[in-house]
Order: sequence, then C-alpha cells, then structure tokens
Amino acid sequence: MIDVAILGFGTVGSGVADVLTENVKKIKRSSTVELNVKYIVDIRDFPESVYADKMVKDFRVVESDPDVKVVVETIGGTGVAFDFTKRALSAGKSVVTSNKELVATHGYELLTLAKKNNVNYLFEASVGGGIPILRPISQCLAGNDISEVFGILNGTTNYVLTQMIENNVEFDDALRQAQKLGYAEADPTADIEGLDACRKICILATLCFGKHIYPQYVPAEGITRVTLDDVAFADKIGYKIKLLGRAVKGKDDKIIPYVAAHLLPKKRLLANVSDVMNGIVVKGNAVGEVMFYGPGAGKLPTASAVAADVIDAAKHIGMSKLLFWEDGDAETVGSTDELVSQWYVRAKCQSDEAAASFGTISVVGSVGDELVFTTEPVSGAAFREKAEALQVQAAFRIMV
Ligand code: HSE
Repeated sequence: MIDVAILGFGTVGSGVADVLTENVKKIKRSSTVELNVKYIVDIRDFPESVYADKMVKDFRVVESDPDVKVVVETIGGTGVAFDFTKRALSAGKSVVTSNKELVATHGYELLTLAKKNNVNYLFEASVGGGIPILRPISQCLAGNDISEVFGILNGTTNYVLTQMIENNVEFDDALRQAQKLGYAEADPTADIEGLDACRKICILATLCFGKHIYPQYVPAEGITRVTLDDVAFADKIGYKIKLLGRAVKGKDDKIIPYVAAHLLPKKRLLANVSDVMNGIVVKGNAVGEVMFYGPGAGKLPTASAVAADVIDAAKHIGMSKLLFWEDGDAETVGSTDELVSQWYVRAKCQSDEAAASFGTISVVGSVGDELVFTTEPVSGAAFREKAEALQVQAAFRIMV
C-alpha cells in the first residue's frame, strides 16, 4: 500500500481525490499498485466533505510522515507550491503536479532535485489537461528529430473563441461561461492574455528540443484583440481564428517559441478543435505530423492525467525515471522575426496606404474606419517594418 497526500483541495485536487479513491481500485490494469489517499492539505475547512477525516492544515504532517511516498501538488502558482514541492522532493517523496506555471518556471531545478533524491517529478497534467502528450513526446516520439510543435493549448480561450465563432456570443459573456464551467485560471487574465498557453508551449518545447525554455523569453499575446468582426471576416475567407502556442526549430539551433492568435484554414483538423478541447501537433522527421486531441481543462480530465502520474510514481519508488533536460537561458530562444507567413491585418488606413506598405494585398472588407486585408508571405521582421506606417489594430498570422 502506497500512501499519497494531496496538496490543495480545489477543482483539480478534489478531482484527484475522487479518481484515486473511486477509480483506481476498479481498474484491473493498475492493480499492481495499491494507493491510499492519506492526507489532503488545505488551509480551508471542508467539514461536509467525504474526505473530512483526511484534511490537515499543516504541510509538516505530510513532510514528516515516511509512509507518504507520493505527493500531489494542485495548489498552483510558484509560491507555497514551489516551497512544498522542494521540501517533499528533499524528504524523498515523488511529486506529481498539474501546475504548469511551476514546471515552466522551475522545472529544471525541480527535476535536478528529484534526481538527486532518487525520486520523480511528474507533470503530465500540466499540458493539454487529460490528453496524454508529455509521455508520447518524451517516449513514443523519442526517435524523431522534432522540427516543430504547435497547438491549441488553452481550453478557456478555445471555449471563448468557439462561442464567438459559432454562437456570436460576446467575449465577456463567453469568458463568464468558461469560468462557471471550471476551465479558467483563478485569475482568468492568465488565460486570455496567453500566459497559460505560454507556460504550456515552454514545457512542450523543452521536452521536444531538450533545453529548458523559460516563459520570460517567450512573446505571448492572447485573444483580447479578437473581435466578432474578425471572426466573421476570417470565416468569409475560409478560416477560423484560434490561439496557438508554437515552437519552431530556427537557425543556429535556436528554438522560436511564441503564443498568438492565428487564422487556420477551416479544412485543417486543428481548426475543428472546439470548445474546451485542445489539439497539439508534433512534426518529427521520421513520423511526419501527429496530432493529439482531447479535453484540455476541467476537473476530471486533469485528474485523469494526475492519477496516471501517481500510479507511475508509485510503481517506480526508489527509481528516478529518465525524464531530464538541459538548462536553458535567453540564448536558447530565437526571434519570431525569422518566421515567414501571410498576415490578416485590421488597420486604420486606406487600401492605397496598405498597398504602399505591403505591395500586393487582398482587401477582405472594412469596419468603421478600419480596413481589413491579408498580405503576401512576409517575415516577422519585414511585417513590423511595413506595418509601422499604418495604425494596426490587430494582426494575426495565417497558417497554411
Ligand atoms: N485554464 C486552463 C485552460 C486550465 O483553460 O486551459 C487547464 O490548464
């Protein structure tokens, strides 16, 4: 019997408690390991909870109990969660988490600490919610030289965009619905400004390319500039607007990661990933293009990924799994300036002004005093230069 402690009894933590107590005993294929949720640590009181007898407020109870071999961190953020994770690993306990902010910011340091203590730090749930993606990249696709990874990495913004595209719902109303459904971060700014997707593309890029990519070096834009008019114009020319995280192998072994809204051709599989679903595409030189699809947020899908890591950690007590990468820095990251694409532009200008800057353009329409047009393929650097003379209100890359 392996004792487990859960830190944080929020949406994900309570889902993990349910899955570990209800499901794991039913699942024959996991039966080589018997799990017992011994403690749930939270500073709040939950007298009505079925887990009331497991609740403790003091992390030291977990830290000092040698029977607890696996700790689940579902607190979130990089404050207390970071402190407790370091202390648990140092006390010889494996840690499993869904905390993408912590993995993206301190993953290298925490993996180093785990290795030193011959325990594991596992975080399958940190990207793509319930989608198995990190193990497939690090194990099943290990034989590939990966050139690019990109995808819809945030369930909240995908839900909001889907509501705008399919039901003409205003941005704020759609976001409120996503919050009610338990998809959004505690502070939804992290979703809509692209920070959550940024943390996730950092983790994916780190795994795909083997060096830690830190979020502070990654340009990230969210969906706050996307209007119902943009959605309608994109539709008119055969595209859907999606927020993508993307990382491309660039020149001189640099990795070019970024987060931004893109126009995707409607026929592309990824364009049809709707609502809270996520879709992640990996391009490898042997496999070609593979896509992973599934629920990217929500209590039980995320708990599903956490529970799998708990089972894995419990099966590997005393064995540090071979998940590791090199540290990285600002030099690891290349600039989006070198990435070439067509652009969708909404700017306060006349069509002759837009053509004077960009040469050949294709006018899509206008809204008020704003012209909407698409450009020929240009690099990020050239785009910035050409757009300087125009009052650009929104500009999105167009994917082929
Ligand atoms: N707020 C995140 C999302 C939760 O919407 O994708 C899952 O990481």
